[in-house]
This record gives sequence, structure tokens and C-alpha cells, in this order.
Amino acid sequence: MSSRDAFYITTPIYYVNGAPHIGHAYTTIAADVAARWHRLAGHPVKFLTGVDEHGQKVLEAAVARGMTPKDHCDDMVVGWRAMMEQLDISYDRFIRTTDADHEALVRDVLQRLFDAGEIYEDQYVGWYLVKDEVFVTEKEKDERIASGELLPEHFRQIEERNYFFRMSKYAEQLVAHIEANPTFIQPTNRRNEVLGFLRKGLGDLCISRPKERMSWGIELPFDSDFVTYVWFDALLNYLTGTGYRPGGADGSPWWPADYHLIGKDILTTHSVYWTTMLLAMGVPLPQHIYAHGWWVSSDGAKMSKSTGNVIDVTKLVDAFGVDACRYFFLREIRFGADGGFSYDGFLGRYNTDLANDLGNLAHRGLSMTGKWLGGAVPDRAAPHPSLVALASEVVPEVARSYDTLQFKEALEAVMRLASAGNKHIDSEEPWRLNREGDTDGLAAVMRDVLELCALCAVLLLPVMPTKAAELLTTLGIDEGRAAEALGQLVAGGPPLELLDPGRSVALGDPLFPRFRELPPAIAALFAEPEPEPAPAELPELDWIAFEDFAKVQLRVGEVLTAAEHPKADKLLVLTVDVGEARPRTICAGIKSRFAPDDLVGRKVVVVVNLKPRKLRGIPSEGMILAAGGNEVVDLLSVDAPSGEVVR
Ligand code: MSP
Repeated sequence: MSSRDAFYITTPIYYVNGAPHIGHAYTTIAADVAARWHRLAGHPVKFLTGVDEHGQKVLEAAVARGMTPKDHCDDMVVGWRAMMEQLDISYDRFIRTTDADHEALVRDVLQRLFDAGEIYEDQYVGWYLVKDEVFVTEKEKDERIASGELLPEHFRQIEERNYFFRMSKYAEQLVAHIEANPTFIQPTNRRNEVLGFLRKGLGDLCISRPKERMSWGIELPFDSDFVTYVWFDALLNYLTGTGYRPGGADGSPWWPADYHLIGKDILTTHSVYWTTMLLAMGVPLPQHIYAHGWWVSSDGAKMSKSTGNVIDVTKLVDAFGVDACRYFFLREIRFGADGGFSYDGFLGRYNTDLANDLGNLAHRGLSMTGKWLGGAVPDRAAPHPSLVALASEVVPEVARSYDTLQFKEALEAVMRLASAGNKHIDSEEPWRLNREGDTDGLAAVMRDVLELCALCAVLLLPVMPTKAAELLTTLGIDEGRAAEALGQLVAGGPPLELLDPGRSVALGDPLFPRFRELPPAIAALFAEPEPEPAPAELPELDWIAFEDFAKVQLRVGEVLTAAEHPKADKLLVLTVDVGEARPRTICAGIKSRFAPDDLVGRKVVVVVNLKPRKLRGIPSEGMILAAGGNEVVDLLSVDAPSGEVVR
């Protein structure tokens, strides 16, 4: 961090054209860990994150939903805030590029640069890549299509009057700055990439969009036919968040930023566009721009909403807990490198590091102390020299790693302490010391183990704020004491003297319960679809062909009259309207179930092509369908007009 005390860190602001995903979660967690680390170290911290709401992409997303862009943004922002909450992100400000102070700053900067001759008007003819909201040269377009990366329809040809920022003017100054400040752009491969880009020659930057093509943006203060190019608008959020006003009398304790965290895909916009904008404004450059890698699926494909292979972070958090997820993302890959995500990989890391190493150490330490030492932190003469040596090496390594955003290295170092604690138990055999009545020996071992738990927990607080605090609470260390302890440790205080002897400690629920297999909600994400159940065997029947069934003509009929058959006990004589010129007379064997009056007005189903015959002297011109075998239970009824065909 810079020599001044205040620490200012930013994430990119995220486009609200889709739901948040792993890539967004990743940058935000990394920034949160750095922010928490510095807060714990007692530094004033500003952590800025938020959303990028203007531009073509968001406009198109709004149009697709049939909403105004602002309504769309207001709606989408709810999901982004929810993600931040779910991931326990301790931002100080959540900025939206539609915020009034941001819009005012953008207009102010534009006017200043325009007045100073840094922005000029010109005709633009060329290609536009909507996906990235950038203009590209013909050559670049052809190369990206030829490589198979993009399709011709990704590019739009554009010819229009526009405003340009004299970016080329600052190329040399920028190269000199990058060369003089080796850690300005990190990691080194990204720094080299930017230098290579700059060496190819830098043009000017188109910073406007004609409203007639794209009106969703901040209007240029000097030409109301145009809005500001989305990147010129978005990058300025980093200044808005500080209260810094270029040319204003007051500076800001927060500027220059300590770190802009970004993904590698937005390296040029930050390292070249943003920095030259700052140079033109006469504003100091940020201390560091750090580009991390991409999470890709295990088959190597980039995970993003456009490729549709996104990992469901919400389900992951629900299944394993937010702290385990935060740990995984930062522990699994070097910050800067790409990483392949797989759920099995997640499960393996969780079980090895959290359930086995750390969780087990805490469980063993607390349960043995409870069983053999009355559940109180034991006193002892001095910590074991080998553990002191290890802890004295690990603490500064962790501090240095957090300071420089080497999260993987920080976490590996902490976990060395946890494994050492487990090994210490195995080799010192506290159960044997207990059996042999070596109380001093037992007290010394258990105290060291509990101290290692406490040390791990303090050092893990930025990454796992809830779980680490939970562990510290069981060890009798509250939040204030933890921060104090961290300060002392970083300043070189004794690493294994954090606990108060005599204080009672209690074994709680396991911190990280072990998972034998992926939890059902996760396994269901890529489970094979259930095979259709095989149909149960049907009974042997005298099957008829469909053509035979189709011979039976069924119609809806309404019973007009009903009377007893004068010569047959079981029959009723009905007249039924089946939509023909005259009603049919039908003799039906339903007298045991229905009185004639029950039937008048009822809609029934009639077989109309059953050959008429006389039943005890009365012709029957059809049959009514009834349920029931020997005994009639009910008539089939339908609610449809008389004469309607039944099939
Ligand atoms: N709005 C711009 C940033 C403006 S900052 C002034 C933008 N937004 S974004 O929503 O598309 O992407 C934000 C960040 O998410 C980028 O840093 C990008 O690298 C990151 N990720 C998107 N997909 C990712 C992965 N699969 N893995 C890791 N990060 C990736 O760009």
C-alpha cells in the first residue's frame, strides 16, 4: 500500500445487462478481502463497487425486456446488491453511473477537457463491437473473425460525426510512467501486454455517441446531440467515489487509488484509456492496476453469461456457506492466473483444507482441552520452539501476501499453521501425556494447539469473516481483541500468545462439516435426467385397432324427456336431442339408479351409430354411456352443446 495510511480499492463496475455471475463475484470478493485486511490493520479504508448502467449493451437488454433503460437498471440493481450481501461484501459505497454526483462529475470533466482543447470534433468511419462497447479497426475485425473468436454480425459499420479525446498525445508519458513504476500494472505479463499495445502506436479515443444512434448515456455538456461513450463515463466512477474534483480546491484522502482490481479483458480500457484521461486532467495516476484471470469451466471455456456455462454461485453459497466459497476462490488460483472451476475440485478443496486441516485442528484442540483440562485455556512456560519458528515466518508472509493481493499465497501460509498443529498433536500424543499424568506436558501441547487455532482464525478474518470470528469466539477472543491481536502480530508481536490462560473454551458445532459427496442441490445441477419409468405391464385384452374404435360415433345429447318403460322393469325411455332434426328415442337400463325426473336436462354421451332395434316394443335409436359394470354408478356427463362430437 502507499505510504499514506488511507487505503482505497475499487472493483470494475458491472454491466447490468444480465445477472451477476462467478466472474463478478470473484473480483468483488478479492477486493473485499483486501479492504477487510486493511481495516483490521487499522487503516482508513474506502472500498468502492457498483454498476455500469449506460451504453448500448444495457440499452439493448432493456429494450429486449420492453422496459425503459432506467426502469431496467433499477430492477437489475436489486440483484447486484443481493449478490453483494450474500457474499458478505463490506463495500463503503455502491455506485451507479446514474447517480447524480457521478453524472455531474462526468459533465464537469468533459467540459474541462473540451475547454482545454483535449476533446475535438471529427468524422468517424469504422467498425463497432457492441459486445465490448469499443471501436475496432478493419484489421482487428478481420483477425478476430478469421480466428473464429467472433462472427461478422458482432461488428457494426458506423459512419458518423463524433467527439474525440486526444489520447495519442499522452502515449509517451504513459509508457515512461509504466517503465518507471514496475508494479503499476500487475501482474508483469499484463504490464508487458500494455507496453506492447502502446508500442504499436496509440490513436485518439472517440468519447461520444450520437443520440440518434444511442441515447442512453450522459449528455455532452457542449453538444446536446451526443451522449458520452460508456467507458469514458464508467471509468470516472473511480473519481466520483472519492469526492475528488479535478481542478477543485480540495483533494481527497482517497485519491490516488491504491488498487483498481479488474479482469484481464478490461486491461486496455483501464491501463490506457483511464490513465491517459487522468494525465489530461492533471490528476495523479492510481498506485496499481491489478488484472486477475478468468474462471473457466474445467473444459477451458470462459464462463460468462454470453457462453451460458455459468456456475451458480448462489447454489454454491447455499450448499457450502459463503466463507467456504470466499476461501475457495482465493485459495484455488494465483491472483492473476486463469483457473478451471469444477464442483468436484471445490468439494476436494473444502474437505482437505477446511474440514480436515482447519476444522479438525479446532475440533481436536477444543475437545481434548474440554476432556482433559476442564475446558480452560491452559497456562504453560513457553510455546514450542518449532511452532514459534514457523509462526514467526508465516505471519509476515501472510501480511506481505495480503498487502500485495497474493491471496493464494496468504492462505497457503495460514494452512501451514493448521497442518503443523495437527502434526504436533500426532507427534506429541496428548492422550499419552494425559494417561501418564504429565500435566505440564499436556498443558503445553494443548495451549500451543489452541494458540495455532487462534492464530489461523485471526489471519483468516479477511477471507472468512464469519467462520473465523466464530472460532475466535469459542476461544474467548472477541472482534476488538482480534483486531488488536492482528495489529500486534503484524508489528512483530509474539505469535503464539493470543489467548488468556484460565479462560473457558467450548466445543461448538463443527466449523466445516465434511461432505462425502456433492450436496444434492449441487449434484442436481448436472445430474442425468431421470429415465422415463418403464410402463407397467398391461393386462391381456382383446385389443381393437384404432380404425375399429373410430367407427363408433359419439355425440353429446341432452335428455328432453324421461319415463318408465311400460313393459320392462329395468328400462327407462328417454328422448334425447343429439343435434339432429328430431330427438332420438333411447331405451336405457338405468332405472335402478335414476328416477326419470333426475335425468331431464342432463347432458350425456350417446353412441349414435348403434344400429336401432326394438326393446320390448319400443325402438331404441342409440345408447347412453354409463359408468359401472352390472350396477350403473353414473352417466357420463359433459358440458358441451348437444350434437357436439365426442372423440
Ligand atoms: N462495465 C465494465 C467495467 C467498467 S469499469 C469502469 C465491464 N463490466 S462486466 O460486467 O462485463 O465485467 C466486469 C468484470 O467481470 C470484468 O473485470 C471481467 O473480467 C470480469 N469477469 C467476467 N467474466 C469473468 C470470468 N469468467 N472470470 C473472472 N472474471 C470475469 O466490463
